[in-house]
Amino acid sequence: GRATPPGLPPSLQDLIGKHPGEPNVMDPELLADPFGGYGRLREQGPVVRARFMDDTPVWLVTRFEEVRAVLRDPRFVNSPYSVPGHTGPDPRDRLMEVLGIPEEFSVYILESILTSDPPDHARLRRLVSRAFTARRVPDLRPRVEKITDTLLDELPGHADGKGVVDLVEHFAYPLPITVICELVGVPEADRTRWRRFGADLASLEPERIGASFPVMIGHVHELIAARRTDPRDDLITALIRAQDDDGGRLGDTEMVTLVMALVLAGHETTAHLIGNGTAALLSHPDQLRLLKADPGLLPHAVHELMRRCGSVQMTQLRYAAQDVELAGTRIRQGEAVQPVLVSANHDPRHYGDPERLDLTRQSAGEDHLGFGHGMHYCLGAALARQECEVAIGRLLRRYPDLSLAVAPGQLTTQVRRRQPGAWRLLGLPLR
Ligand code: HEM
Repeated sequence: GRATPPGLPPSLQDLIGKHPGEPNVMDPELLADPFGGYGRLREQGPVVRARFMDDTPVWLVTRFEEVRAVLRDPRFVNSPYSVPGHTGPDPRDRLMEVLGIPEEFSVYILESILTSDPPDHARLRRLVSRAFTARRVPDLRPRVEKITDTLLDELPGHADGKGVVDLVEHFAYPLPITVICELVGVPEADRTRWRRFGADLASLEPERIGASFPVMIGHVHELIAARRTDPRDDLITALIRAQDDDGGRLGDTEMVTLVMALVLAGHETTAHLIGNGTAALLSHPDQLRLLKADPGLLPHAVHELMRRCGSVQMTQLRYAAQDVELAGTRIRQGEAVQPVLVSANHDPRHYGDPERLDLTRQSAGEDHLGFGHGMHYCLGAALARQECEVAIGRLLRRYPDLSLAVAPGQLTTQVRRRQPGAWRLLGLPLR
């Protein structure tokens, strides 16, 4: 049987199970086994009435075609303010309160690139893309390889080749945070603070978040101020230049939000994918053999790992800008819609034998929704894929006899279950 998920903060626990027949995204069953849980909802229907963390109603969109359709349909918007006739209050106020985000700081969450719509979205995306273009990702490869090799050199237990090492702690986590901090321009001394910020946010404990959030915002303000007087070859400096060139079209709050989003979105997601992907490969010896025999399969394999065990379970919420009929369900103007990536990526209507890890799967290519789809498609997808390719490729080459130090089933109990959005391993003990 499945272990009972650890207790949620009381503030959230009180909100669950109040509406029989309407699953809450924090239901223990969905947190413990999102693939199974959302899979069952997907087979109930393409659009399922449910409740968000804060108990507000939401339509879950569960199947591949419908998720893709919503993500490219301009009738669904990311900010409730883009719904014509919207006259406050902000439907997310309650969530901010439940999470403990102090009111004067909620702007940093509610007005990010992810929660923006045209024309603001295009302006923000252009600014970041200019500072962080796909063209630069290949240039970063040697640096990603160097960081990877250094981490592999320093793995504890590496000397005798017999020790057990926690791959999350010593490899999957440090690699992406080092890469993104170098890229953005976060000094090395500040990196442990970001780890703490991430953990505080993930705790979903309002007291912890309430205390940590203002400190994080203050830290980003200081970072930007420091780069104004001491420009470097990094993303913060590039954003400051873009801001000056464009006559301040990137507001100060937008800038802070962007830097925060890039550092946070840029490391935890990638760390979890490296962890999930390595665990999946080591639990599937036949697939592991295939990959070792043909390292050229790696880019394709990373896509399949994204599909099979991606680290982001859902996108941001969308709102219906007008009444919409979606797969037979009438969604009213202003109602919240939640595209669910995990159930879409395992939809048997789209993939043959979806639960199987198959690195040679013909359709796996770019054909998954793990990085989202449409206008808000992940800005860091190319970087994240490159990091995973380098990490997994070099790890397997350097340690061809790597194996799980626990039974695959035990890994399930290692998953942090409190977060509805992320799918991650807290630790990955390897021999
Ligand atoms: C957007 C997943 C890595 C920065 C997204 C979205 C998803 C996603 C699903 C779309 C959300 C939506 O439509 O509501 C992932 C996964 C990653 C990853 C699974 C790693 C495996 C990264 C990295 C960066 C990054 C490394 C930064 C360097 C962003 C940004 C957006 C975004 C800025 C917002 C784009 C926009 O709104 O136009 N990501 N991401 N992500 N991601 Fe990622």
